[in-house]
Amino acid sequence: MTVLVTGGAGYIGAHTVRALRGANRRVVVLDTLERGNREAVVDAELIVGDIADQELVGKICRDNKITSVIHFAAYKAVGESMIKPEMYWSNNVASTEKLLAVLAEHEVNKFVFSSSAAVYGTPKSMPVTEAMPTVPESVYAETKLAVEKYLGALALNSAQPMNSVSLRYFNAAGASSDNKIGEDWSSSQNLLPRVMRALLDGTFKFEIYGNDYDTPDGTCIRDYIHVEDLATAHLKALEYLESGGKTLACNIGTGHGTSVMQLIDLAEKIAKRKVPFTVAARRPGDPVSVYADATLANKSLSWQSTKSLQQIVESAYAWHSTHPNGYGK
Ligand SMILES: NC(=O)c1ccc[n+]([C@@H]2O[C@H](COP(=O)([O-])OP(=O)(O)OC[C@H]3O[C@@H](n4cnc5c(N)ncnc54)[C@H](O)[C@@H]3O)[C@@H](O)[C@H]2O)c1
Repeated sequence: MTVLVTGGAGYIGAHTVRALRGANRRVVVLDTLERGNREAVVDAELIVGDIADQELVGKICRDNKITSVIHFAAYKAVGESMIKPEMYWSNNVASTEKLLAVLAEHEVNKFVFSSSAAVYGTPKSMPVTEAMPTVPESVYAETKLAVEKYLGALALNSAQPMNSVSLRYFNAAGASSDNKIGEDWSSSQNLLPRVMRALLDGTFKFEIYGNDYDTPDGTCIRDYIHVEDLATAHLKALEYLESGGKTLACNIGTGHGTSVMQLIDLAEKIAKRKVPFTVAARRPGDPVSVYADATLANKSLSWQSTKSLQQIVESAYAWHSTHPNGYGK
């Protein structure tokens, strides 16, 4: 029983590989390393290659008796997806179809997919449940929803169903508790790495996008989930599929909203110094407030988040203070 982890040298994938290894799972990682790091794969075999390389994926399935796949490999920058839509449709959707075709040939029928809360667009009310409409507002979000829909169709193939769990992550943040792996701020557009960079890199110009929203402090509200809690969700999703669970899409978040200013305030308390920033214009398409209702993940996968916002920011601060150049690239 070996798990193939695509994109396992990336931020969330690397934490998940460690969680799998911690649970004594056999793991093989497939990653191009285009946006990942060899050093992040601490305790598993890494094969450098592309998910679209069907010959290679077939060989990996045969050589390792792959029984399930956790599929992280994709591009994830919303802004880039609007400028280079073909690159996103090709890598996130067409390459995933190629991967799934090879998995079908090898009768691999358990698949955990990295989806995103971005599939909801700007939700009409909070917290967000899976029953709410999916209204993607970027090419990136469209590609995530397209794969979810394709997986829904593959589940209906009665001759050879592919059972899958699509995990709609909210905002992944933080670093490993032992400070071995974390996020590379040079390749992340996310808020927390930018807050950390503002604290630790004197040359970095940190802007927050709008402080005149209709929220208590005027800044946007998001649901920050510790990357190790996210990693555990993948393990739970795998166990759910292994015990016969059917295809499902569910939210993975804490259920708590935190504003940009609250996150900055907490970072200042932990670092014991000010975070320098300027206020820029709102970004088009940024929803005011998004946080999860994670009841479905709790009930179906027996998963819930365990780590606090304090632990998220402390782990990020420890990681970035000691790894200012990420993995040294
Ligand atoms: N980081 C977040 O907050 C967040 C939120 C929602 C969803 N997601 C999704 O979770 C997944 C992982 O996110 P991450 O933050 O770890 O991203 P990441 O960029 O750190 O990791 C993605 C990895 O996939 C690899 N990769 C990309 N295309 C590949 C291909 N064709 N073949 C093989 N490897 C390939 C990259 O080299 C990289 O190592 C992505 O699918 C992303 O869309 C992330």
